[in-house]
Amino acid sequence: MFNKFRLGKKQEHSSTLRDKIEELKKQPIPEHVAIIMDGNGRWAKKRALPRVAGHHEGMKVVRKTTMLANKLGIKALTLYAFSTENWKRPKNEVEYIMRLPEEFLGTFLPELVENNVQVKMIGYKNQLPVHTLHAIEKAIEETKDNNGLVLNFALNYGSRAEIIDAVKQVLNDSKNGILNETELNEDVFSSYLMTSEFKDPDLLIRTSGEIRLSNFMLWQLAYSEFWFTDVLWPDFSENHLLEAIEVFQKRQRRFGGIL
Ligand code: FPP
Repeated sequence: MFNKFRLGKKQEHSSTLRDKIEELKKQPIPEHVAIIMDGNGRWAKKRALPRVAGHHEGMKVVRKTTMLANKLGIKALTLYAFSTENWKRPKNEVEYIMRLPEEFLGTFLPELVENNVQVKMIGYKNQLPVHTLHAIEKAIEETKDNNGLVLNFALNYGSRAEIIDAVKQVLNDSKNGILNETELNEDVFSSYLMTSEFKDPDLLIRTSGEIRLSNFMLWQLAYSEFWFTDVLWPDFSENHLLEAIEVFQKRQRRFGGIL
């Protein structure tokens, strides 16, 4: 299936793209970029294809985006691949999405290793099908010594549940004398979240024209820059990522202060 889509083909960038990359690298590059990859279903519908065809096309965009993010020197790329609410979708669609990490990593893992990419995951692992978890854990293990881009899949992830779990853990640690109430501050609370090892995203991208967060990193996105585009995720190109970064570089981040 992968050969059909030539996913294994080494990715070459045109000289125009290379020039743009070099130009952008003269200014600060966001260290952590988070993406809500939306619009796969609509992409498929426009072509009278089943919804899952959109997810498959979207998977190919994950590869392109990852490779470019790595080239740009982005340190972490968190991709919202499946939310805790997405289980409400038709069974065949859920099953299809749960096969994608396997299919993606089955072909792409050697390229990730070769390019020094480290795979990680946030989300509730215990509800994932065994084959999905196995593929992710294998990729995490095989890339654990890499120190390039961290490709972080948010899979079965939900921000409100994450926050509630963090609160429970804080209460528990407080009860057991591990954490004193006076020590609790924003940094300490962040360390109880699934994203404890990541800095907060600098840039959030959402495709498909929807302007909402959909339970994604509600705490972590407090001071992130947002970039929304009408482009459907399967149509998201390298140029779109470069455009988002260019916009980011023009923003003035004040974090509540003044310049
Ligand atoms: C939202 O679009 C997309 C998803 C819920 C799935 C996203 C998954 C991928 C892009 C593939 C992930 C790849 C790997 C390797 C894990 P939607 O279906 O809600 O689109 P719609 O709003 O147009 O219906």
